[in-house]
Amino acid sequence: MQQLLDKIKAYSAEIEAAAVKSKDELEAFRIKYLGTKGLVKTIMGEMKDVAVEQKKEAGQALNQFKNFVEEKFDKLKQFEASIVKEKQDTDLSLPAPDMPLGTRHPISIVQNKIISIFNRLGFAVAQGPEIEDDWHNFTALNLPENHPARDMQDTFYLQEEPAWLLRTHTSSVQIREMEKGVLPLRIICPGRVYRNETISARAHCFFNQVEGLYIAENVSFADLKQTLYFFVQEMFGQEVKIRFRPSYFPFTEPSAEMDISCLICGGSGCNVCKKTGWVEILGCGMVHPQVLENCNIDSEKYTGFAFGMGIERIAMLKYQVKDLRLFSENDTRFLDQFVAAV
Ligand code: DAH
Repeated sequence: MQQLLDKIKAYSAEIEAAAVKSKDELEAFRIKYLGTKGLVKTIMGEMKDVAVEQKKEAGQALNQFKNFVEEKFDKLKQFEASIVKEKQDTDLSLPAPDMPLGTRHPISIVQNKIISIFNRLGFAVAQGPEIEDDWHNFTALNLPENHPARDMQDTFYLQEEPAWLLRTHTSSVQIREMEKGVLPLRIICPGRVYRNETISARAHCFFNQVEGLYIAENVSFADLKQTLYFFVQEMFGQEVKIRFRPSYFPFTEPSAEMDISCLICGGSGCNVCKKTGWVEILGCGMVHPQVLENCNIDSEKYTGFAFGMGIERIAMLKYQVKDLRLFSENDTRFLDQFVAAV
């Protein structure tokens, strides 16, 4: 009798763990345990060897076992049916669901466009570090210590002595490239810059600039004008006009700021151009001889022009974006509106 109970216990564990993946396996289970020559029948047959006074107890145990196996079979049957249904519900001939594709960031789109326009004029892309020293960000650009123009840009200092700072403009890359001593030099330097400004719709503590630099023999202001005119027409369209206003930058002499005719009103005056018909887009000028000398370039032999523009500013004009903060907030409702082709 004890032998019989032990057997039931062992088989129960085996049956509990049983699983099926198909109709065939389900049928195999039924035959093995519940068939006419199955385990349940075989064990039932062993009842005859049990002593009379123990028959009652053994009979109950056997009945329980039989019910247990039948219940397990029902469960497996249901499970098998659910797999079949799942298979039927899946139409393998349907195309896969769309993968949500990202879009390019508007700043990347505009930056790539700027790069491709200047590439066509023979400008190569150069890059420099965002953490700069005083020499490349200021001193070599003709902004020595205590120069009042240093206050034009509020600087984030990482360390005072020796000074390590977050570059306030991409003009620092000009210096790094000129120091390499390979001339002529024709580069643009796109990249992120940092300023200690209160964040608002019109200012941010980080933004992107593109610096341009052309150093060779006999480079003139006329070359600068024509280069920038080509750029503006490719960027904003053939009808756009440009004008230069005299300005001041320590690293250029003469210096200028360039305006384009307002893209909204075409020059007749509106809110975007503050009724002037013009909007400023960049600073530029002829590289100061002192800057050339600081980089060991002979300023008697070589001349050059430089310019610097904010990419966010170009993007705001191009796409009529009124708040600078949208470019760094990563709100997909804003970002999804831009398609790669400018
Ligand atoms: N570095 C200037 C700025 O961040 C922009 C600039 C002006 C760059 C004139 C130049 C330049 O190369 O010639 O405001």
